[in-house]
Amino acid sequence: MTHSSLLRHDQTLFRDPEAFEPTFVPDHLHHRDAQVRELAFLIQPALRGGSPMNAVLRGPPGTGKTTTVRRIFRELKESTKKVVPAYVNCRQDHTLLAVYRSISRHLFGYAPPSRHLGDIREGIAARLGEKNASLLVCLDDANYLIPAGTYNILLYQLLRLYEKWDVRGAGVFAVTSDLATNLYAEADGPVRSIFRPTEVNFPPYGKTEIREILGDRIRQGLYPGVVPAPVLDLVAEMTAGEQDIRVGIALLRQACLRAEGDGRRRVTRKDVMGVVAGVRSPALAARTAALSPGERTLLYQIAEQSLSGGEMMAGAVFEEVQDYLAVGRTTYHTRLRRLADAGIVDLLQTGKGYEVLLRYAPDEVFAACARGGTPSPG
Ligand SMILES: Nc1ncnc2c1ncn2[C@@H]1O[C@H](COP(=O)(O)OP(=O)(O)O)[C@@H](O)[C@H]1O
Ligand SMILES: [Mg+2]
Repeated sequence: MTHSSLLRHDQTLFRDPEAFEPTFVPDHLHHRDAQVRELAFLIQPALRGGSPMNAVLRGPPGTGKTTTVRRIFRELKESTKKVVPAYVNCRQDHTLLAVYRSISRHLFGYAPPSRHLGDIREGIAARLGEKNASLLVCLDDANYLIPAGTYNILLYQLLRLYEKWDVRGAGVFAVTSDLATNLYAEADGPVRSIFRPTEVNFPPYGKTEIREILGDRIRQGLYPGVVPAPVLDLVAEMTAGEQDIRVGIALLRQACLRAEGDGRRRVTRKDVMGVVAGVRSPALAARTAALSPGERTLLYQIAEQSLSGGEMMAGAVFEEVQDYLAVGRTTYHTRLRRLADAGIVDLLQTGKGYEVLLRYAPDEVFAACARGGTPSPG
C-alpha cells in the first residue's frame, strides 16, 4: 500500500455525510420526470387560484416517492404563495391530532400552542383564508392511517375544509409503498365522491438507473476516487437484487465507514462484502414488519421448510405448512404472492408449477420474524 492511499487520522472520506442520510434530498432526481410532470399538472389549477387535484402515489419502497414529493414541495415553497404544501409522515403521525399539528407546523412555522383539535383546525383554515392560499397535503405512507382508523375521516375533513370556512379547496397526495393496499378502494362512499385521485406509479429502478443514482450520490457525498467503478458495479448489482435503492445507499455508507476506520482512502469489494449482512438484515426486518401475522407465519414456515431441506415447490410447501396455517389454497397463494411482492421470496415458474425461493438465509428470516412479532397461526 502506498503512503498516499492512507488517511491521516483527522481525515475523512465523506465530503458531505448528509448525502447518506435517509432525509437527504438529492440535487438531481433521476428518471422521475414523468411523475414530476404529472404531479405538477395536478397542482396547476391551484397556481391559477383554484384547488389542487388529488393523487395516489404508488410504488414499492425506495422508488423515490418521498423524494419526489419533497422536491416538488420545496419548489412550491420557494416559488409561490398561492399553494401551501404540507408534508405529513403518517408512519409517525397517524392520529387526527398529530396530523393536524403537523399541517399546522408547516403553515405557521412552529408547533401550534393548542392541543385542541378544533382550535388547530380553525387556526389552519383562518391562516389559509388570510393568505388566500390553498392547502396541498402529502399523506406519506398513508396506509398507516387505515389501521389507525383515521384515513377516511382525514380525507373527508381535508377535502371539505373549504365548505365550512369558505377557504379555497385543499388537495391531497396520498402515498403508499404497500402495493396490497389500494388507497382509492379504502376510501368509503362519502369520501369517494370528493376524492378522485389520479394514480401516479413509481416503478422499481433497473440496474442502470440504480448505478446512475448511486454514482450521483457518491459524487455529492464522497471525495473523488473513494469508490472505484468496479466496486460501484458490485453495489449496483446487489442493490438491483434487493430492489431497494436504500440498500445501495446504506451499503456505500457502511463500506466507506469501514475503509475510513482502517485509514484507507479507497473502498474495496471486501469492504462491501463485509458490511452486507448488517445492511440486508434491517431491510429484511422492515419488509417483515410490514407483513400481516398470517403472512409472517407462512414466511416462518417456508424458512423452516428450506432449512430442513424440504421440497420447495409451492404445492408441496402448502401440504407441509397447512397444519400450521389453517387456511385454504387460495389464501395460501395470496399470501405467497404477498411475500414475493415484498421481495422476500421469488416464485420461479417451472414446468411443474412454482418453486419458492427464499432470498435470505433461513436464520436471517427467523431473526426478522422474531423481531416483527411472534408468529401465530392464522
Ligand atoms: N430518482 C432518484 N434520484 C436520486 N435519488 C433517489 C431517487 N429515487 C430515490 N432516491 C434516493 O433513494 C432513497 C429512497 O427514496 P425515497 O424517496 O425515500 O423512496 P420511497 O419514498 O419510494 O420509499 C432516498 O435516499 C432518495 O434520496
Ligand atoms: Mg417514502
